[in-house]
Amino acid sequence: MLVGLALVQVAGLDSPTFDNAATLAHYWLAPRRRDRGRTTVLCPSCGHENREGASFCDGCGAPLAAVCPRCGAQLRPSARFCDSCGQAISEPAAPPTPAPTAPTSFAAGRYQVKRFLGEGGRKRVYLAHDTRLDRDVAFSLIKTEGLDASGLARVRREAQAMGRLGSHPHIVTVHDIGDEDRQPYIIQEFMEGGSVQDIVDQTPDHRLPIDQSLQIAAEVCQALQHAHDRGIIHRDVKPGNIWLTADPSASSGQAIARLGDFGLAVAIDLSRLTQAGMMVGTVAYMPPEQALGGKVDTRSDLYGLGATLYEMVCGRPPFSGHDPVAVISQHLNTPPVAPSFHNPSLPPALNALILKLLAKNPQDRSSSADEVLAALQTLRDQIQQGEVVAAAEPAAAAPIGRVAWGTFVGREREMEQLKERLTDAFSGLGSVVMVVGDAGIGKTRLLQEFATYARLRGAQVLWGAAYEGEARLPYGPFAEALRDYVSRTSVETLRLAVTEGSSVLAPLAPELKVKLADLPEPPPVAAEAEAYRLFQEVTGFLKNASTSAPLLLVLEDLQWADKGSCSLLQHLARRLAGSRLLLAISCREAELEPSHPIREALPHLRRESGFWELPLKGLRESEVRELITVLAEHDVPQPLVLALHQETEGNPFFI
Ligand SMILES: Nc1ncnc2c1ncn2[C@@H]1O[C@H](COP(=O)(O)OP(=O)(O)OP(=O)(O)O)[C@@H](O)[C@H]1O
Ligand SMILES: [Mg+2]
Repeated sequence: MLVGLALVQVAGLDSPTFDNAATLAHYWLAPRRRDRGRTTVLCPSCGHENREGASFCDGCGAPLAAVCPRCGAQLRPSARFCDSCGQAISEPAAPPTPAPTAPTSFAAGRYQVKRFLGEGGRKRVYLAHDTRLDRDVAFSLIKTEGLDASGLARVRREAQAMGRLGSHPHIVTVHDIGDEDRQPYIIQEFMEGGSVQDIVDQTPDHRLPIDQSLQIAAEVCQALQHAHDRGIIHRDVKPGNIWLTADPSASSGQAIARLGDFGLAVAIDLSRLTQAGMMVGTVAYMPPEQALGGKVDTRSDLYGLGATLYEMVCGRPPFSGHDPVAVISQHLNTPPVAPSFHNPSLPPALNALILKLLAKNPQDRSSSADEVLAALQTLRDQIQQGEVVAAAEPAAAAPIGRVAWGTFVGREREMEQLKERLTDAFSGLGSVVMVVGDAGIGKTRLLQEFATYARLRGAQVLWGAAYEGEARLPYGPFAEALRDYVSRTSVETLRLAVTEGSSVLAPLAPELKVKLADLPEPPPVAAEAEAYRLFQEVTGFLKNASTSAPLLLVLEDLQWADKGSCSLLQHLARRLAGSRLLLAISCREAELEPSHPIREALPHLRRESGFWELPLKGLRESEVRELITVLAEHDVPQPLVLALHQETEGNPFFI
């Protein structure tokens, strides 16, 4: 009887939960409440709602400590992964800073604190009175916890760069920078009107009128062009970094917008670009190239501007999700839902402009802030002259297929298994994971989501696929992955991966010989030995490439792969032990022709100890509900959810 009861309890515990608020809460001892992508922390002692990132409850002073959601171990403040079990921590553990006791003055009494204005992730801001110049200023004290000497130097450099911007009507003026007890501070003009984020939050539907949005965007463009002309990239354009004056301008009758915090967020926390423990709020406006720590340029700021415009007119950022990885994955992989879907009154040209600014590839965005400014100006003139009456055509601009796929739902267990395999790969336990399932069931989406996670953890990702009707190109998926890797990897790094015999890879990745022209020609071998030599060289190359950082090789749609790829896969799978290589393959197993070469390889693969199979089934009813709710933007009646779930068997492609 007792045993029975215990089993019931264990089964109950085991049953998966798909309540995402609950999933998120697992990350913290103190529960968090989510408000349109922002998070508040509920104090476990008094239930008071605290700001995201708070270390102590500002209601009762109790610490808001963090523990690992998987094993319950106490986390260090800067933990991105649990050091007991390797679990990724999706929100950074709160730093153990003492509760802020407001100082009364700074800089030997020059700045008298009037009140505490608020706290960002990395600074505390006070309204202070500059007694020497008799004016109110915003005094930002940078939090230095976790910053090493080079971090501090970076912050000072950025603060100086901000100072170099000089005065501009649409840039928050930096009056001074300095150090207080070795903590850097920045004195800026006090913006009484608050931030654009504040007014978006205070507006009932979180939307600003179109003319006001256009005006703010136009002013931000002027600020950006000024900075870009001086070689300064902002890197964190978002509604929270645009402030408003209290008084309206005489010409427009509206408050003047000013852009602030140039480069600061990134300078302060450079490492956040490659870590999984980022706050959702900081990634909601982040260009794809920046999210992965790639090269940023002026067009990265235009992406942030596009995301800001999107939020101003739609009442929500282009992408939201339950953890930073899910948001970043959408920046990388998912086309945004057309803004006109959320706001049907949007002029078509504005709809198109926002989508252009949000292009994944920087080259597809507008070329400069000035160009965007001109487009905004034309639009405003047209609106003023009553020329833009037609709203964007929502059906055309936002094909329904694009709409639902913004948010990744469910698949927690599958993601968990994939993450475990990645942790294994980090410690030299390479393996193969095969994701199988019907067309449209979500294999690609799961692997994309996982690849984003892997990149953020510092793994390298190579991606190749077989394609239908391409006459099964020899080694097609491997060739695609290798070509991509070789073309984006520096000559120095490539040299570390190649061996004497690597030139046999040239037919798969011709760029190799272009980049490493001195690679020796391999000695001739008998025709029957050629394939084996190629397999060995591919295996050696991939293993060498994975010594510096684990390598995730995704090979998609093996149901269309050629025989050579299937044999090479089998060869590689047998040699993964002790390597930092993780192979993730996908296949529509049910559609395999009887004579398909992968059928022959499968029994061998399944015998390998490092082979894992992940069969994907349809989404559950609760997940179907979540997908439709995202689409409809409000709760949907249960009978509709039921009908859709039954009709589609949970296949997200058909929902
Ligand atoms: N878990 C999910 N959450 C949200 N959307 C999803 C999810 N899984 C799949 N989708 C969406 O469903 C559609 C089909 O998924 P996907 O392309 O990943 O299927 P697939 O299994 O790779 O199919 P195929 O065999 O045709 O390649 C895509 O638009 C995808 O974004
Ligand atoms: Mg697919």
